[in-house]
Amino acid sequence: MAEGAAPVAFVTGASAGTGREIALALAGAGYDVALVGRRTEALEAVATAIGEHGRDALVLPIELRDAAAVETGIDAFLAWSGGRCDVVVNAAGIPGPLSPDIGGFGVAEFDAVIATNLRAPFLILSRLLPVMRARKSGRIINIGGNHGMRGRAGRSSYSSSKWGLRGLSRSAALEAGKDNVTVNYIAPGPIAVQRMKDGWAARGEAEGASEDAVRKDYVAAMGIALGRTNEPADIVATVLFLVGPGGRNITGQEIVIDGGVIV
Ligand SMILES: NC(=O)c1ccc[n+]([C@@H]2O[C@H](COP(=O)([O-])OP(=O)(O)OC[C@H]3O[C@@H](n4cnc5c(N)ncnc54)[C@H](OP(=O)(O)O)[C@@H]3O)[C@@H](O)[C@H]2O)c1
Repeated sequence: MAEGAAPVAFVTGASAGTGREIALALAGAGYDVALVGRRTEALEAVATAIGEHGRDALVLPIELRDAAAVETGIDAFLAWSGGRCDVVVNAAGIPGPLSPDIGGFGVAEFDAVIATNLRAPFLILSRLLPVMRARKSGRIINIGGNHGMRGRAGRSSYSSSKWGLRGLSRSAALEAGKDNVTVNYIAPGPIAVQRMKDGWAARGEAEGASEDAVRKDYVAAMGIALGRTNEPADIVATVLFLVGPGGRNITGQEIVIDGGVIV
């Protein structure tokens, strides 16, 4: 059970990449953290690292596409936190089909992306937003993407899910503002997480180029003004800002962190 005095955060996507770094940073900032993902072992490794910060962690292996599993997981979370929830970060997400045009992939693939990237945050907000509103306090951060700020050929399902998440975030912000709960959306461009680095390395191997050269090509193709991808720390810093004193009066906003693509 979380200590009574510590603030509590609920973070999805906590087993890998950006969500894991956010969970660790929140623990470093004094939060007890519930860790959501599917891979129990990976979540346990994060929980161990959080223990080293002297904070508590709850490992919550949940298939976020399964509404009943989300319900049960949130029951367990609220039992652990004593009904407290100060911060929610929805960071779990999948890219879905990476290149086919519409017509080149099926509805099951589209549904999987929507269920993970949009419906799961809706399910989570459905349970945790009322808890925050009743306590007259809370900060919610939904991790979208800069493809939620524009269209992108070959990424229709992903882009649709992230645009939808913006609508959910803005509407929730308008509903919950009177109860001192903020809801914001972070729109990252490419983040150099392990999954992306593996992709660059695999392409490099196939093309006989270094991972670094592939990454430079990728940056050029994306038209990134600052000429670099994000590191997870770029997203983490904004999350910490939004949950801290600087975020007190910011709600319903989309904060683009992409090195200057959506300009
Ligand atoms: N990386 C980028 O370039 C980039 C760019 C823009 C936006 N984003 C967004 O930023 C967020 C984090 O991305 P990332 O690349 O850092 O993540 P990642 O390394 O690919 O990890 C994805 C995370 O989501 C969890 N997840 C995926 N599907 C799930 C499901 N059905 N049920 C439960 N958990 C699930 C995974 O947990 P398990 O593996 O344990 O299931 C994992 O913790 C995502 O919302 C993504 O769309 C990423």
